[in-house]
Amino acid sequence: MNINEMKPESAMFITVEGGEGVGKSTNMAFIGEWLERHNIPYIATREPGGTPLAEEIRALLVKPRAEPVAENTELLLMFAARAQHIAEVIMPALRRGQWVLCDRFTDATYAYQGGGRGIDRAKIAQLENLVQGALHPDMTLLLDIPVKQGLARARERGEPDRFEREELFFFNAVRDCYLQRASEEPHRYRIVDASLPLVDVQSSLAMHLKQFLESSA
Ligand code: TMP
Repeated sequence: MNINEMKPESAMFITVEGGEGVGKSTNMAFIGEWLERHNIPYIATREPGGTPLAEEIRALLVKPRAEPVAENTELLLMFAARAQHIAEVIMPALRRGQWVLCDRFTDATYAYQGGGRGIDRAKIAQLENLVQGALHPDMTLLLDIPVKQGLARARERGEPDRFEREELFFFNAVRDCYLQRASEEPHRYRIVDASLPLVDVQSSLAMHLKQFLESSA
């Protein structure tokens, strides 16, 4: 991909973000059904991952291991997976006129590697620029939940991965960073209270999607 290539204006790039246990999978499925009901052609994908190579990088990243993973290694692997995902999946779909619904994107790098690990935001911005050029999400739905509530849900899912093994302060920093970014970019972010019953979370998602669709028409 030529990173200077512009994203086609009619195809929208929507990302779904949040900490652990916010209900991303269930709500990704709900958003997909909403897009289908509105006859919007789309693909659903995820990060890290979304292509065979990027899924292999994901497996390397999430696997618990005895060897400490250096901050830069984690950061570069995230962006390596992202570069592949953009080239092979995201840009081709947008070029075909399909919307892209992505479970996590670079906001997660700011939140986890920036907020959680403490990596300088300017360093992340450099890689963002290198890998993405002008490609940025048009709308980011942030599923927000108090950290303890999210972790309790996530830990019901069984064996924790390398990220899920982090301490409470790590996830507090992740959440703070997401909320900070949302306050800095209110035109792109929509915050959804994911601690509410599912029916309320989904009616909030549907409202944001409807508003977005109307404003982008
Ligand atoms: P998931 O299980 O929520 O799909 O994501 C796997 C883990 O990867 C999750 O704990 C968050 C983490 N992650 C980062 O640390 N940085 C990133 O840029 C992305 C996309 C995910």
